Amino acid sequence: MKPLKSFREYVEVLKEYNEVVSIHQEIDWNLEMSAIIRRAYETHAPAPLFKNVKDSTPGFEVLGAPVGLSPNEEHPYIRVALSLGLPINTTAPELVEAWSHLPEVTPIPPRLVENGECKENKLFNDEIDLTKLPIPFIHVGDGGRYINTYGILVVRTPDGSWVNWSITRVMLDGPQSLAGVIIPSQDLGKIHRQWKEIGEEMPFALCLGVDPGIAMIAGYPLSGDVSERELIGGWYGEAIDVVKCETNDLEVPATSEIVIEGTVSLTEMVPEGPFGEYAGYTWIGHEKPTPRFDVKAMTHRNNPIIPVSATGVPPEESSTNWGIGIAADIQNTLRKQGLPIKQCFIPLESAVHWLVVTVDRSQQKVDNEQLSHDIGAAVFATRAGSYVPKVIVLDDDIDPSNINQVVWAFATRHHPDQREVMAEQKVLPLVGYLDEKEKREALTTKAIYNCLLPLNNGSSDEQSIEASFRSYPEEMRQNIIENWEKYGF
Ligand SMILES: Cc1cc2nc3c(=O)[nH]c(=O)nc-3n(C[C@H](O)[C@H](O)[C@H](O)COP(=O)(O)O)c2cc1C
Repeated sequence: MKPLKSFREYVEVLKEYNEVVSIHQEIDWNLEMSAIIRRAYETHAPAPLFKNVKDSTPGFEVLGAPVGLSPNEEHPYIRVALSLGLPINTTAPELVEAWSHLPEVTPIPPRLVENGECKENKLFNDEIDLTKLPIPFIHVGDGGRYINTYGILVVRTPDGSWVNWSITRVMLDGPQSLAGVIIPSQDLGKIHRQWKEIGEEMPFALCLGVDPGIAMIAGYPLSGDVSERELIGGWYGEAIDVVKCETNDLEVPATSEIVIEGTVSLTEMVPEGPFGEYAGYTWIGHEKPTPRFDVKAMTHRNNPIIPVSATGVPPEESSTNWGIGIAADIQNTLRKQGLPIKQCFIPLESAVHWLVVTVDRSQQKVDNEQLSHDIGAAVFATRAGSYVPKVIVLDDDIDPSNINQVVWAFATRHHPDQREVMAEQKVLPLVGYLDEKEKREALTTKAIYNCLLPLNNGSSDEQSIEASFRSYPEEMRQNIIENWEKYGF
């Protein structure tokens, strides 16, 4: 493993793999920049690096689609692999497998250093004008410009016992104020509640442009009050460097491109949203009041680069970062519970609404119906599983990261009678089809789709063989592949 220890280094390495296109023309932050980012995601193009954004402080740059899929058809997950410090040819199931062991690494606390790159420039109070940053107005219908889409928000509990890092969207409110979304069930929401209870403003630090591994761990739905900053040290095999903030006692990754510090108001609320969300929709009129984040200081590297994730219809970072983390955590939990599962994967195309679980049939001890129920119930009971509304259980002849195989198997192996519906399940209120009541209560109905083939493949007169190229004898297939061009194809 070779971790990349800063966002700057990540951008440089992406360039070496032809994963970046530098755009020198002036580009408008108002829709134009994100339209380019969206097209890059949707055509699996390199990540656009915007060198010249209209109206913004010269020298400030933006990297769009930081973990989009690669143009490299053989290794579409290069950016995920590099983010995790893994070989670029790591396949999607292998990424999930590796990342599923994250909760087991031995934590290594960060090293507090005196100075870091993020301190190269320091601005305080009225010196700060966030509107001069190259911050995008992302989607048609959004409520404002989104400053944070792929950075981390650092907060801690009032007693200092738990420091939390998460990726959460933050909208620009004014030159020195932000509108930060706080979802009660997320760790940010839990910590914010503690500050409200003691009647004090919660200090925060928003770090834009952190090590790619830090961004990956900040999107990982770890259970319990685990410290991401210690686990990432464990994952890297060495401590990460952190520096103290200027105006509060939070510590932030020393190589961060930009650090914005401040406190969350106890009394002032500001409108936030709508925002084009990971389900793929911008809910027009979906503006909500949220606590105002008051900015007191901003420090930054020279010529900082801001990452921008233009969430929406997949593939974008909600599936390549969050979805892979969710699948990894669930895979770890199901294995620990002794369930006979082979792999878990969230097909990118499902916008984090489907979890596919494949089963090692040789280890199966109960009937198909029972096993599907056990798997689905175990998934929904986990924190990571609370995000996923639908579980599809399949035989392990299917590669869950191959959407063609998944759709074929789901369509042809699932009998509608074999669907189990579970009511009153916890859910993130951002799932695409929830009604207002479900969003308010964060509870919904979830489904388990049992697509398992009959045990022992049915009776002898019903046995099936997959009718496709991969079912032909191995030697014949190899021979055909080798001769393919000679045939004239
Ligand atoms: C690109 C991206 C955007 C995200 N946006 C949000 C968001 O706006 N709000 C939110 O609660 N979670 C969001 N998440 C998911 C959280 O980062 C994830 O659930 C994480 O586990 C939360 O941190 P926690 O485990 O410390 O609660 C996003 C994840 C990614 C990768």
